[in-house]
Amino acid sequence: MLQQETAQRNTEGTAETTGQVRLENLSKRFDGTIAVNNLKLEIGKGTFTCLLGPSGCGKTTTLRMISGFVEPTAGDILISGESQEGVPPHRRNTSIVFQEYALFPHMTVRQNVGYGLKVHRTPKDELRQRVDRILEFMGLTAMSERLPTSLSGGQQQRVALARALVMEPEVLLMDEPLSNLDAKLRVRVRTELKAIQRRLGITTIYVTHDQEEALAMSDRIAVMDEGILQQYGSPWELYFNPQNRFVADFIGANSFVRARIENVTDTTLLLSVGNQSIELQREAVAATVRTAGEEASLSLRPESIGIQRAEGGNGTADSARSLRGKVNMHQFLGAYIRYWVEVEGQELIVDDHNPRQRGILSGDVDLRLGQSEAQLFPAEE
Ligand SMILES: Nc1ncnc2c1ncn2[C@@H]1O[C@H](COP(=O)(O)OP(=O)(O)O)[C@@H](O)[C@H]1O
Ligand SMILES: [Mg+2]
Repeated sequence: MLQQETAQRNTEGTAETTGQVRLENLSKRFDGTIAVNNLKLEIGKGTFTCLLGPSGCGKTTTLRMISGFVEPTAGDILISGESQEGVPPHRRNTSIVFQEYALFPHMTVRQNVGYGLKVHRTPKDELRQRVDRILEFMGLTAMSERLPTSLSGGQQQRVALARALVMEPEVLLMDEPLSNLDAKLRVRVRTELKAIQRRLGITTIYVTHDQEEALAMSDRIAVMDEGILQQYGSPWELYFNPQNRFVADFIGANSFVRARIENVTDTTLLLSVGNQSIELQREAVAATVRTAGEEASLSLRPESIGIQRAEGGNGTADSARSLRGKVNMHQFLGAYIRYWVEVEGQELIVDDHNPRQRGILSGDVDLRLGQSEAQLFPAEE
């Protein structure tokens, strides 16, 4: 796994790790709500960073504080080492792209893209050159005299992005820019967007509630919940090493099984799940709890659990590596079969990625747990 992680990092280009944007104990309170709570984040130059979390967790508020549209209640934002306190939005070296494109309907594509430069009193020749260059770069030249209403959603979003990029900001901010597009287009535009970001090497902070989008696009992801940073790391780290139950639950699918730690040796953890017991290799399990007698929550990825027809008939699995369960339901999804399996009154999700090997299973099954993907968290209150 470590080798894979290194390999993955090596493909992530040469983005610097020094903080181009630093959030220092940033907080925002609206009346009774703490929208952002003491957020500390260092965002590397040239990186693509996602703020990820459920609706209402404070992503937009954070982005608006960085852009200067919302004033922090406490803390500071540093861009290239400079405090942004008291700096108005148009004096910050940031551009923001919103979900609802916000293009001017009565202006052509060219006029929309050039608008910011005009406001900044950019000389006419320079304005034309910069607009031409960005239109070409974004593949919008042929549409430059059209009105936004005559463009598709994807094209409009590209115009909005061109309008932000033409300002040559140090930091590009995007707030759920793809959520108005249909699912297929969203996947295409995100690939395109990521390619543009890479080519320009522009520091980008991207807000989304879509974990797949975050995994696909980011160098680093900051997962937030209720205004609080839960974890900050590469997609790989967040998926395979979630630091708490919230992150494990929010990123990818996971089943949580109530378990009790019965015994801990140098090499193994013996857990009981209801009337069954299971042994895990100690070094393979990322555990925040590992004291005998403790209640814990065992987190398991659907693709890391092996499933097969039950062997023997005593109602519990024979091997200490397996749990006996009963299929409640399945869905055939082509590439894999998803099973909902009841084990000791609890339900686990199991994906079988070799459907042709076993066919569709029903009744009693044995589940073999993938050791290295298991996590142990403190039991829920
Ligand atoms: N202008 C505002 N006035 C009052 N409450 C706000 C305002 N903006 C955001 N909030 C509240 O702050 C919290 C975070 O909101 P927001 O940053 O928009 O979350 P997200 O973008 O993650 O969905 C929410 O509880 C929201 O209702
Ligand atoms: Mg938002």
